[in-house]
Amino acid sequence: LVPLTISKLMKLKAEGQKITSLTAYDASFAALFDQMGIEVILVGDSLGNVIQGHSSTIPVSIQEMAYHTACVARGVKRAFIIGDLPFASYTSTAEAVKNSALLMQSGAQMVKMEGGAHLCEMVEVLTHHGIPVCGHLGLTPQSVNTLGGFKVQGKSADAAKKILEDALALEAAGAQLLVLEAIPSTLGAQITQALKIPTIGIGAGPDCSGQVLVMHDALGAFPGRKPKFVKDFLAPTGTIEKAITLYIEEVKSGAFPAPEHCFVAN
Ligand code: KIV
Ligand code: NA
Repeated sequence: LVPLTISKLMKLKAEGQKITSLTAYDASFAALFDQMGIEVILVGDSLGNVIQGHSSTIPVSIQEMAYHTACVARGVKRAFIIGDLPFASYTSTAEAVKNSALLMQSGAQMVKMEGGAHLCEMVEVLTHHGIPVCGHLGLTPQSVNTLGGFKVQGKSADAAKKILEDALALEAAGAQLLVLEAIPSTLGAQITQALKIPTIGIGAGPDCSGQVLVMHDALGAFPGRKPKFVKDFLAPTGTIEKAITLYIEEVKSGAFPAPEHCFVAN
């Protein structure tokens, strides 16, 4: 049982093999996903929505993220664990180091932060301290109030260019992975090609290096409005294990995401 590392994820991208990722927030689901071969488990601040019942990720605290990261880490033997830095927990480099250290000491192997070029100095410092960083561009839910809602990003040529530049800047600063959320498929493909590091898409088209879904969405547990990029893998399969197997198969083959899960540019 060889644990997943960032080098292995780089190798998967280089070989053109898709990376499979799901969120998890507790030991039992994390253990199941891990045993089934999910490569990256993201302890997302989406737990504010799906676990805590908030309408955004803004109320989530670093202590809550550390608690769920520790729960997940106890269930995992092989998968690569990413912990989300929550809202306003990386407003200075000192805060970012302190809060990232807490997630790493809780069992994360990488931390994720939302935003572009303005984070570069921070990414460099974290990386130098042995804290690998995953960027997150496109729809960044912690900025829902500045974005004016949960909207698809990068639809115009100018907006797309800005996101591509942010991606290149984050990579140059030392980011080792990049989540792309709710952008046109063409932009997802362009960024993935321009970067050496892997991209993990959620509503970013089939050409990203891998795909991630919120586990509740992948298992049909969405009481509210279902975003376009979501697919329920439980309904057609009937058991959680078969649903996860189908998700892995469809990500690996490129069948998911299909055109109906994707966004187009203006
Ligand atoms: O919090 C989360 O689950 C995420 C993914 C949607 C990428 O950031
Ligand atoms: Na998140």
